[in-house]
Amino acid sequence: MKEFTPVKEGKVREVYENGDSLIIVATDRISAFDVILKNKITKKGAILTQMSKFWFDFTKDVVPNHMLTVDVNDMPEFFRNERFDGNSMMCRRLEMLPIECIVRGYITGSGWESYKKTGKVCGIALPEGLQESQKLPEPIYTPSTKAEIGLHDENISFERSVEVLEKLYPGKGRAYAEQIKDATIALYKKCAAYALSRGIIIADTKFEFGLDENGDIVLGDEMLTPDSSRFWPLEGYEAGKGQPSFDKQFVRDWLKANPDNDNLLPEEVVTKTVDKYKEAFALLTGKDFE
Ligand SMILES: Nc1ncnc2c1ncn2[C@@H]1O[C@H](COP(=O)(O)OP(=O)(O)O)[C@@H](O)[C@H]1O
Ligand SMILES: [Mg+2]
Repeated sequence: MKEFTPVKEGKVREVYENGDSLIIVATDRISAFDVILKNKITKKGAILTQMSKFWFDFTKDVVPNHMLTVDVNDMPEFFRNERFDGNSMMCRRLEMLPIECIVRGYITGSGWESYKKTGKVCGIALPEGLQESQKLPEPIYTPSTKAEIGLHDENISFERSVEVLEKLYPGKGRAYAEQIKDATIALYKKCAAYALSRGIIIADTKFEFGLDENGDIVLGDEMLTPDSSRFWPLEGYEAGKGQPSFDKQFVRDWLKANPDNDNLLPEEVVTKTVDKYKEAFALLTGKDFE
């Protein structure tokens, strides 16, 4: 049997190469306030992988995506076991574009901080008088460039994204930049409207795109999971204050209340968090997990 070792181990995910495909594995690790906690959130990786699968299926007519299969029986033998079953996605390998395609439907986080100071978010002027967590009149596209490990991503203007892509793909920068912007907004609009109808606000999210062998834009990475997005419960939503995170609410609350915590959560907080991931999955897909 061919053995595989990850070509990349991120904070939460592992990536394996397999010829012209990739196998992206979501682990049960969880991060909060930028640190990896010591606990594993049972089945989190599988729930998030199946959530991405749901969205890739849901939007395949809007934008082509990289998903090939989540069935380990269609993957190399090495992956056909419990460790990879459910939490792995085999994908077409793309040449990734070095732009993080962020879209914001609500004003929060760094966007809110910037708006309070300048009235703008990433150079985009917004109406006066917005409140924290308020829905924006239209979703805004605020790209960033991927920073080297350890540094924060850098927000860039749309025009800067054109330049970055033009340098890599002479003559095509503007077309690519426009395509990924339009795709980002279209995907967000369709999915956020759907999620809202199921009780979840998707305040903002990030997509990554790449090029296939024909130079066509394809959606990659994970899609609309709580790790790549801000999910808020619709119940109790009210502008004028920060909103609780759908999935990490118990984790963050406990960490804040226990500052000398050594990054280890009590079992009760873990169980409640597992249940939140299952709840998000059931709300969004209309099916119970497993
Ligand atoms: N279809 C794909 N082809 C090639 N690379 C991909 C594809 N989908 C996602 N990726 C890349 O795989 C990596 C996933 O790693 P991740 O755990 O998110 O860490 P990070 O975001 O810190 O790089 C990212 O670099 C992402 O751009
Ligand atoms: Mg990533």
